[in-house]
Amino acid sequence: MSSFSKRRTIVLCLVALCSVLLLEGCLRNTSRSSSPGYRDGAEGWVLPDIDSLSDSTIKYGYRLVKSTSAYFGPKGSIRHSTNGMDCQNCHRAAGSDPNAISLRSAYARYPRRQRRSGVTERLEKRIADCFERSMNGTAPAADSREMVAIIAYLRWLNDVTSTSDQQQMQDSVGLAFLDRPADPIRGKRVYSTNCASCHGSRGVGQLAPGRVSYVYPPLWGKHSYNIGAGMYRLSNLARFIRYNMPLGASRTSPILSDADAWDVAAFIASQTRPTFDYAADWPNIAEKPIDHPFGPFADPFSEREHKYGPFKPIEAFYTR
Ligand code: HEC
Ligand code: HEC
Repeated sequence: MSSFSKRRTIVLCLVALCSVLLLEGCLRNTSRSSSPGYRDGAEGWVLPDIDSLSDSTIKYGYRLVKSTSAYFGPKGSIRHSTNGMDCQNCHRAAGSDPNAISLRSAYARYPRRQRRSGVTERLEKRIADCFERSMNGTAPAADSREMVAIIAYLRWLNDVTSTSDQQQMQDSVGLAFLDRPADPIRGKRVYSTNCASCHGSRGVGQLAPGRVSYVYPPLWGKHSYNIGAGMYRLSNLARFIRYNMPLGASRTSPILSDADAWDVAAFIASQTRPTFDYAADWPNIAEKPIDHPFGPFADPFSEREHKYGPFKPIEAFYTR
């Protein structure tokens, strides 16, 4: 073989090898991503390798968090007991994305005293809260196979979470308050330009073919989370949007400005959604988060101020 054709053979072999690697990368990605929002290991954080697990309970828990609607949605195989959302519509990448309401260290945080209920809660109770509020439904029993599996998954996720991932979670906490109230009218314009193409002009989202799960989950209306959910608090919603939406945004490359994120959150929060009996929440009213929008309060600010801000004066009231 001449040195030219030898070189050509080497180049061809390299090309073939690269294609195989690329193809494998694509296959791995598609097999892991059922939703278009799934970011596999972006920004340095790593999605733990579920496929290599042998423990079927952990795997089942993972599937329940990822594809909740297939089991508990209006067309679910176990029970029709939720609004059809998946846990990972909010806790993205099955709770492993450090910047999307991460569940990576949830297991280690319980049991703990919750200010919302005023009592010490086990993790089962906190998960049930999201079934009842974020999923506007009813939760599987604490000793059910499903609850046991979700907890096994969260325990495993906590075990495999590295300190650098935990650091990222801490770094991404909080979004600076504006000096003015968040503005639903301005937010409506932000919504039309950046969000309506996927979530719809009426905020109802878009079901996948087969109508079991959502391609684009609802943001308000009767299939969305209810007024007792954590996402109904403006700071949670604005931060989620700032670091995750529109799809493709991330903590290191956000797309909206802080002000746009607060305003579009205000627009979403101003729309109708299912109700919830929150009368027993925050029995000690002085412990209410400053953006909990329902009185009575231990401060002189109105429900509207607690819903939309400005939050700095309320924060100052409690830190004086
Ligand atoms: C609509 C968005 C949304 C959906 C859907 C959702 N959650 Fe949540 N979840 C939240 C928010 C927001 C919080 C944080 C609330 C807060 O801090 O006030 C939270 C908190 C939690 C926590 C506590 C985390 C911790 O570290 O203390 C757990 C556990 C949890 N969710 C599990 C689930 C599970 C399991 C599902 C599916 C059955 C689910 N969530 C569905 C929004 C959601
Ligand atoms: C290209 C499509 C797309 C665009 C544009 C988009 N989203 Fe989303 N959004 C999604 C998907 C997909 C999810 C579910 C995330 C997942 O499963 O990882 C989601 C989830 C959400 C959630 C949490 C789940 C829920 O239903 O409450 C909120 C809140 C949200 N988006 C708000 C917005 C806002 C506000 C904008 C505009 C600034 C926006 N999105 C733009 C696709 C989109």
